[in-house]
Amino acid sequence: MSKFGEKAYNLGMCKLRHTTASDAKLLSVTLSKIDPWKTLGSTPNEFEQGFQSQTSSTNTYTVMFEGKPVGIISVRFPWLLGPYLGFLGVIPDAQGKGIGKTLLNWLDETARAHSSRNIFICVSEFNHDAQAFYKACGYKKVANLEGLILDEYDEFLMRKRLY
Ligand SMILES: CC(C)(COP(=O)(O)OP(=O)(O)OC[C@H]1O[C@@H](n2cnc3c(N)ncnc32)[C@H](O)[C@@H]1OP(=O)(O)O)[C@@H](O)C(=O)NCCC(=O)NCCS
Repeated sequence: MSKFGEKAYNLGMCKLRHTTASDAKLLSVTLSKIDPWKTLGSTPNEFEQGFQSQTSSTNTYTVMFEGKPVGIISVRFPWLLGPYLGFLGVIPDAQGKGIGKTLLNWLDETARAHSSRNIFICVSEFNHDAQAFYKACGYKKVANLEGLILDEYDEFLMRKRLY
């Protein structure tokens, strides 16, 4: 089984590669225009820089589908006895095709390969579609983070318990 921190992964229906400058430029524009980031006021500039920064604990990947960059997934590991999904976004044209589910399955399998007890994610209180998606994939709300990003909105911390 693969471990966190590799340069690339082949997930069958899609592939992951460390985000390049051109991927970051392209996807930062599209993703900053859709919710939750539109409502949260994220800018293409901050996304472009963030998507390209790899650290020893955080890896950011471009999701490639049918040869095109269609999304970003960023994983911080280790966090609270497991990985923290810091960013997940699939562009609207590629949503609803099973890519998100494939990415969460990869996260689950890779976390298990590290004997992680948990996976954590944060989701905005107004992002009902993403909450339904995470619930369908086994995540439960474990905390309400009041005004985490903006005063007006809370963020929900969700956890998938693996063991
Ligand atoms: C949320 C997101 C990552 C899901 O990825 P996706 O590729 O569109 O999702 P999938 O096609 O893999 O759907 C997987 C499963 O999630 C569930 N699901 C997805 N969207 C759902 C919705 N709106 N309502 C209920 N369930 C939903 C379904 O169970 C679906 O599986 P099924 O159709 O086989 O039953 C993607 O839609 C996205 O990037 N949205 C905008 C940004 C965002 O909200 N990101 C999350 C920030 S925390």
